[in-house]
Amino acid sequence: MSDRIHTLSGYFYEYQKSVTEPENFWARIADSFHWKKRWDKVVKWNFEEPNVQWFVNAKLNITENIFEKNLFAYGDRTAIIWEPSEPGEDSRSISYQELYEQVCQFANVLLSKGIQKGDRVIIYMPMIPEAAVAMLACARIGAIHSIVFAGFSATALADRINDCQAKAILTTDGNFRGNKKIAVKALVDEALEKSSVESVIVYKRTGQDIQMQEGRDFWWHEVTEGVSTSNKAETMDSEDPLFILYTSGSTGKPKGVVHTTGGYMVYTKYSFENVFQYSPGDVYWCTADIGWITGHSYIVYGPLLAGATTLMFEGVPTYPDPGRFWAVIDKHQVNQFYTAPTAIRALQAYGTEPLEPYKLDSLKVLGSVGEPINEEAWKWYYTHVGKSHCPIVDTWWQTETGGILVSPIAGITPTKPAFATLPLPGIQLAILDPEGNELTGNSVEGNLCVKFPWPSMIRTTWGDHERCKQTYFSTYKGMYFTGDGVKRDHDGYYRILGRVDDVINVSGHRMGTAEVENAINEHPLVIESAVVGYPHEIKGQGIYAYVICDTTNRTEDNLISEIKDMVAKIIGPIAKPDKLQIVPGLPKTRSGKIMRRILRKVAEGDTSNLGDTSTLLDPEVVNQIIAGKK
Ligand code: WT7
Repeated sequence: MSDRIHTLSGYFYEYQKSVTEPENFWARIADSFHWKKRWDKVVKWNFEEPNVQWFVNAKLNITENIFEKNLFAYGDRTAIIWEPSEPGEDSRSISYQELYEQVCQFANVLLSKGIQKGDRVIIYMPMIPEAAVAMLACARIGAIHSIVFAGFSATALADRINDCQAKAILTTDGNFRGNKKIAVKALVDEALEKSSVESVIVYKRTGQDIQMQEGRDFWWHEVTEGVSTSNKAETMDSEDPLFILYTSGSTGKPKGVVHTTGGYMVYTKYSFENVFQYSPGDVYWCTADIGWITGHSYIVYGPLLAGATTLMFEGVPTYPDPGRFWAVIDKHQVNQFYTAPTAIRALQAYGTEPLEPYKLDSLKVLGSVGEPINEEAWKWYYTHVGKSHCPIVDTWWQTETGGILVSPIAGITPTKPAFATLPLPGIQLAILDPEGNELTGNSVEGNLCVKFPWPSMIRTTWGDHERCKQTYFSTYKGMYFTGDGVKRDHDGYYRILGRVDDVINVSGHRMGTAEVENAINEHPLVIESAVVGYPHEIKGQGIYAYVICDTTNRTEDNLISEIKDMVAKIIGPIAKPDKLQIVPGLPKTRSGKIMRRILRKVAEGDTSNLGDTSTLLDPEVVNQIIAGKK
């Protein structure tokens, strides 16, 4: 495998090549894939419009690169190991050949429901192998999938269905979460009241009672019955959309990040193999949910393109007890384990006792993703999970980047706690100051940008290209702006400092403050609100809401829990404010802008240095807020 980096000097060599001769570099990587027609040009781009095209005019199908290209060599190899939520239920193991047949069969089902190339299909499913089958079946026929995290509410689901004008929804009757059964189909029914959706296909997971609407709703097991398991893959252009994934931004409305086919395929496989140093036969486990980009790129596409055995876990880290992750690692002899700092901190809080019954000796590589990992959690992970011999890859990336951009190469790049270390080949970073000057050299701190395209980058935001341009390409001319602050230390290593915009990162999940405010403002007694993030021991950041409301005839406590519950209902439980303070007013400038900087300080409990408050319309309101903080 010539694309594999084996040494540190090899990494520097490849990195250099990727910068001096990007087209030759990526052409060499892309050559190992199966293209129905080769590209005319490797990359065409400008960051003004923006317009980015990789492997221009090439034709392919990503599922042929997972299956047809390899089945002869390793059709009987396990593609997916599935571990159910309930430890007593049997796990499942699906070979590449079996997965191929299921994908082809389901692709035929989608075709029979009138789904065509370019149509949007929403997948609203828990962590079961059929969710991966659903994704790949869409890719097989050229339908654009959009996965909505199964923990999102009916309203959030409806917004996404309407934004992308989905034609079909793939879902389940219900979902197991710890010892609870969660209604899924009922939420779909609620979301579908006014919508474009023509068919709903329901996989039976829990067996709970649900309503099926004649002519619209179909059982997965019934529609697949007797359907052919062969299917001819649709021919896709390299730049045809593969999927849309909604993510939060600075404004109230989540945006549909669009990823396309050829570049995403090349980059996810390349980054997966290199970062995790995956070798055939290894068992790889990423604990993310397929509803997030991590699940797309590093549970499904990257690993399956690399012929890996990828483990899918339906449950949560603390059920039936806080040793569950460790039990699963031993049970399936996991070699690479990839999780989020929030999970590590949550488990760290139980001490090392839950680890004692387990050997964890199959582990070779540990990964971290989603938020900055604090040094203490890094060390605990390294010492107690990795037994001081497994390198940690702290992987920095985003929904928009499609794949990992900054990360150690496991076992090759020397690591430092809390540092994502160095950019992968092909990734040309820049650090900018607020005036837009690039800060060169080491020991600098500023805003993180990328100055050259990479294959798996965002192409547009669905239905609103201008928004893509404004959000990512307008802050700094000719650069992709990430929204993150970063430090490059004296060794040239990168440490991500967190978001510099109105996005908060709660347990590795992205929330827009405006989105939460909009939900709070739906309450009839709420007059105005402002939401900020604050440091939270387990979640990384918690949600702190300041709310002005009419409290006549109501007790504060009762109103607070009512508003919090309402946010959970409107967006989903992950958006529920951790703290909600009813305030008499908000600190505003004379022009009416809320000074969030002050609210952040108060939420952090750091009121000693609030900075300049002289431009405030009513400086007294700050003292009232401080006095009212519980
Ligand atoms: C934001 C993107 C990428 C998959 C999961 C999140 C933060 C992500 C790291 C890391 C520090 C990180 C950034 C980024 N982030 N990984 N290793 N160290 N921060 O995807 O929901 O699009 O969120 O997560 O702030 O901008 P996402």
